[in-house]
Amino acid sequence: MNKSSNFELLGKSPEFQALLRSLEVASATDVTVMLSGESGTGKELLARHIHRKSRRQHAPFIAINCAALPEGLAESEFFGHIKGAFTGAIADNPGRIHMAEGGTLFLDEIGEMSLDIQAKLLRFLESGEYQPVGSQIQRHADVRLVAATNADLRKKVDTGSFREDLYYRLNIIPFHVPALRERTGDIGLLIVEITKRLSTEYQLPAPTYNKAAMDCLQHYAWPGNIRELRNLCERMLILFSGKEINDGNLPREIRHQQTRRWTFSLPDTGIKLEELEQELLQQALEKTSGNQSQAARILGLTRYAFLYRLKKYQLQ
Ligand SMILES: Nc1ncnc2c1ncn2[C@@H]1O[C@H](COP(=O)(O)OP(=O)(O)OP(=O)(O)O)[C@@H](O)[C@H]1O
Ligand SMILES: [Mg+2]
Repeated sequence: MNKSSNFELLGKSPEFQALLRSLEVASATDVTVMLSGESGTGKELLARHIHRKSRRQHAPFIAINCAALPEGLAESEFFGHIKGAFTGAIADNPGRIHMAEGGTLFLDEIGEMSLDIQAKLLRFLESGEYQPVGSQIQRHADVRLVAATNADLRKKVDTGSFREDLYYRLNIIPFHVPALRERTGDIGLLIVEITKRLSTEYQLPAPTYNKAAMDCLQHYAWPGNIRELRNLCERMLILFSGKEINDGNLPREIRHQQTRRWTFSLPDTGIKLEELEQELLQQALEKTSGNQSQAARILGLTRYAFLYRLKKYQLQ
């Protein structure tokens, strides 16, 4: 996928649209944004979106993956170093904070940052100042910070691997990026649109998915989220270009997931089935902001069967 189409955010579900609206409000300010969500949910794409919607859009967007920083070089990656600061420092290195001047610094997988760098980052966030490795001079930078994590940072604070003061400093506006199974209304759209983009990129005719295949994909839990969905679209495009895909053509794990999806087991103390049913009906309505057709779909019911149950329990 080329860079520009990578930027296009797809999603019309109420969950995703609500997130975009709040992100756009935050983008207009300089406030620090924290994006948390499972792997492959689109955190990096959303961080770029915040940058593009901000007054900093013409300045650089610089990303640092805190999990991929080589031990010992992290400080210099962030804050830069001067020539001769350590063995191998053969020239000055400005560092990523300097490179992001006037723009946005994206700290990916922030939960993996070492305690030492956390302390230095906190100092920078509080004063706007930092010191390149080997230098006596304080430097100043004006950057907006967006951080992302797929770990539970609060838990890391509790176990002492993440500083509490930095946690509060970063968590000014936290956003939960929903997993694909929390925005099932987008699955069909994502499959069609991503297949379209890939077919242009590969110059291959797009395959189509028949109803049985689409149903199967709608019910799959997508543990790898949009990244997994994109990879599937790519694989299906190559294998079934120009053809119709039915459920039997889908990978095993997707076909079999449907039967394994339910992990609920009846407790020894029993349950009250009717109460549980009412609870699920209500949760489905809440999740879909009252949209009865969508609520019916996520419960695997027809709209008619759904309305019948609402009436039965007088939930309407
Ligand atoms: N809303 C979206 N519309 C279109 N494509 C998307 C969307 N969200 C994510 N993608 C695509 O899904 C893939 C994963 O997105 P991204 O790298 O932003 O996820 P992530 O949350 O940062 O994942 P990780 O935690 O593993 O780093 C990318 O190919 C991205 O282009
Ligand atoms: Mg990422």
